[in-house]
Amino acid sequence: MEKEQLIYIDDAVRSWLETLDKIIPKLIEDMVTSTKQNRFDLVTNVDKSIQHNFEQFLKQNFPEHQLFAEEKSNEEVHPKEGHVWVMDPIDGTTNLVKQQEDYCIILGYFIDGEPMLSYIYDYPHGQLYKAAKGYGAYVNGKRLEKPESIDLQDAIISFNTLVMNDETIHGLNDASFSHRFIGSCGLDSIRVIKGQFGAHVNTNPKPWDIAAQFLFASELGLKMTTLDNMELDFSKAGPFIISNNACHEEVLGILNSGDGYKIQ
Ligand code: IPD
Ligand code: CA
Ligand code: CA
Repeated sequence: MEKEQLIYIDDAVRSWLETLDKIIPKLIEDMVTSTKQNRFDLVTNVDKSIQHNFEQFLKQNFPEHQLFAEEKSNEEVHPKEGHVWVMDPIDGTTNLVKQQEDYCIILGYFIDGEPMLSYIYDYPHGQLYKAAKGYGAYVNGKRLEKPESIDLQDAIISFNTLVMNDETIHGLNDASFSHRFIGSCGLDSIRVIKGQFGAHVNTNPKPWDIAAQFLFASELGLKMTTLDNMELDFSKAGPFIISNNACHEEVLGILNSGDGYKIQ
């Protein structure tokens, strides 16, 4: 893709993201929460409206682009063909409902399966993270540097203790400096991207949870793989790690030791 075309799309999407600042406060004021598969699987009018809004934006500005997003059926979408936007309209819905903090909007733009532009908008803190293929990563327009190496013994690592067996949790806790978990795959990943966490592991992400992280990882020299250290397919997702180079192998070693990380 021509540089001018990429800049044109980036400008348009950033303008769209800015419009959210006016819309979100009212949506939160009138928040309606419902459940999906169980009582912990939440969705709100905020998630639905943001996604609907972006769908309209694409229809008006880039009608040939497809939308592959959490709160819709994606049966008709061909994620690896042509121009595709993968969206999580609110990542960290539980945090939005229970804390009104620590949630974000995730957008990944792919052409024929290749990531071209990525956005993670930490709306509550007014931080827009962006990565563009070949042009690096930024926060609110300021360039992000490649994180320094973090050995596991010095690293904070992030994972959900509710979905791992005790042996693995102890193994990870013993080998690392400490554990933190924000509960938003996008924001836990951002901590790794900024060099604050050594690694973030999610054992069951969906495409929209990880769509934006690919470009941040490649632009900043981070590792992003399956938990078998294989290449991740963005259209299918599945167990993943985003990690500082220096602790990637050791974290995977612990996750795969003994009977593995799964709760039996
Ligand atoms: C969830 C969050 C959470 C992660 C789950 C995701 P949602 O996304 O990112 O941190 O552990 O796997 O499903 O449901 O809030 O969009
Ligand atoms: Ca999510
Ligand atoms: Ca979501």
